[in-house]
Amino acid sequence: CGIAGYIGHRPAVDVVMAGLRTLEYRGYDSTGVALAFAGKLAVRKRSGKLAVLRDSLAAEPLPPATTGIGHTRWATHGAPSEANAHPHTDATSSIAVIHNGIIENYLELRAELETRSFSMSSQTDSEVVAHLVVDEIQRSGVEVTEAVRRVCRVLRGSFALVVSSAADPEVLVAARRNSPLVIGLGDREHFVASDSAAFLAYTSRAVELADDQVAELRTDGLRVTDLAGAAVAVEAFELERDAASVEKGDYPYFMLKEIAEQPQAVADTLAGSLVDGRVSLPGLGLSEQCIRELTSVVVIACGSSYHAGLIAQQAIERWTDLPVHVEVASEFRYREPKLRSTTLVVAVSQSGESMDTLMALRHAQQAGATVVSICNTRGSSMARESHGVLYTEAGTEIGVAATKTFLTQVAAGYLLALHLAGVRGGQTTDGLIEVAEALADIPRAARQLLATVPQLRALAASLADRDAVLFLGRQLGYPVAMEGALKLKELAYLHAEAFAAGELKHGPIALIEDGLPVVVVMPSASQQPLLHEKMMSNIQEVRARGAVTVVIAEQGDESVDACADAVVRMPTTHFMLAPLLASIPLQILTCELALARGCDVDQPRNLAKSVTVE
Ligand code: G6P
Repeated sequence: CGIAGYIGHRPAVDVVMAGLRTLEYRGYDSTGVALAFAGKLAVRKRSGKLAVLRDSLAAEPLPPATTGIGHTRWATHGAPSEANAHPHTDATSSIAVIHNGIIENYLELRAELETRSFSMSSQTDSEVVAHLVVDEIQRSGVEVTEAVRRVCRVLRGSFALVVSSAADPEVLVAARRNSPLVIGLGDREHFVASDSAAFLAYTSRAVELADDQVAELRTDGLRVTDLAGAAVAVEAFELERDAASVEKGDYPYFMLKEIAEQPQAVADTLAGSLVDGRVSLPGLGLSEQCIRELTSVVVIACGSSYHAGLIAQQAIERWTDLPVHVEVASEFRYREPKLRSTTLVVAVSQSGESMDTLMALRHAQQAGATVVSICNTRGSSMARESHGVLYTEAGTEIGVAATKTFLTQVAAGYLLALHLAGVRGGQTTDGLIEVAEALADIPRAARQLLATVPQLRALAASLADRDAVLFLGRQLGYPVAMEGALKLKELAYLHAEAFAAGELKHGPIALIEDGLPVVVVMPSASQQPLLHEKMMSNIQEVRARGAVTVVIAEQGDESVDACADAVVRMPTTHFMLAPLLASIPLQILTCELALARGCDVDQPRNLAKSVTVE
């Protein structure tokens, strides 16, 4: 979810709405604002996207105010409705609260409040905070900041809170635990947001709130304390501005633009690390001795980042002597993984904030493992909490489904694998140089693939009415197929599954029926003849049962022509790097299929770009 708050001299509703616009990628099923002025709070909430709230505010403006808070929600507790939208207030609207995260003890807190005749008007976990703050003020006579501190002490779980008070419109209170919250420092004004992008148009000076800290924001002042009320010294830092990449330009959708930006994004990610056919990552923050002493690698990630991790696994295992295990981050810490200081844990996350991955990373840190993250966001929680960081240079990605951040993660995974191999001397230098040179050529080859758009648009039009699509891959093509299927689920709301092609005959083949599209990620005919031959048989097996086959194959592989209903060609590269190319037509096909089915490719239903709850 996205939080934006403001206190200063400008019309707060404008600042808050502009902030929410940049945060909409964090969730967009309902929205709301609250403005504080002259002893009152004015609240407006709407279910649906931010545009619904914007239209409502335009038709019926709220009274002018220079203190305000706003929220764009991704539902956890309670359906996406107006009642469940934030801000939440108490019965008399004296306190308005915005909350990101999950309050794990909310049921007991709620039950306790209800026995004392507080009545709830939503199904959310967040609403209890508004009542608890009011209760604390009424019972103890404390001012709102102290009340928030006291309430935070009884909350379990994760929260980023921003509280506004009718009685004191000159103050906003912010607090956090395990959920990001940044404060923007302006000239006689302060901002607060779950992501600094929300206020970057106004100021680039910021302060990051740490866990269990409470900030009192006033027009002229900022005071940060711990939960006991002791003052905490905070250090301001400068944010990097990256405003250029957040406009659509000539593209109708961010997704199309971001797909087209991939060759450059990959080039930017490789830049500086690939010199004369050698990879060096001095910025990674791991000494050569530490790398030599490693005994295993564990990759943790979710969603598309997990698929990038599966590709990194194959690269590291092929080029080094290290065993690599990849795990979905949400499962990792619950099965007591055996970690030691010689285990390298690689957290892959574009946002650096996914709660599942962050918690898995912290678990690894506590267990004494060496932790690096592959991350697209400077200053993110994971970047700050890792021993080393390998940044992807995708720029800001607005489309909710990962495209350029995924591809740059794949590129970064190769860099990491080559770096580990170079330091440990796992492979012959010649072999490494050949791969590194091929890697440097990927942006050029990727650019050629953008020309497949017209072919894939026509193909998408012919498949738009299907109910399901299967994806087949082998070896490196398998995670590519998994990412293709995930994209199709996310964007086109189609039932899509990926299978390791060899596994097909062990069950999934029962799904094949007349007209079912099967997308096949073909191994290289020239470099992997054995695997290629096996995949040819798999294509025959599904065709014999009526499937419509779409085959992604390298240029010059004519053997597929006879058995494919459609062939999408990609330039030839080193077979280990093929995922960097094969993923692109799958993204384009998905985007075109989703558009043909009338779906919103930038903001698909039920999703959020960065999920900061577990
Ligand atoms: C969300 C997004 C996915 C993304 C995943 C991991 O679920 O909808 O597209 O792959 O989070 O995000 P991360 O920021 O950790 O890479």
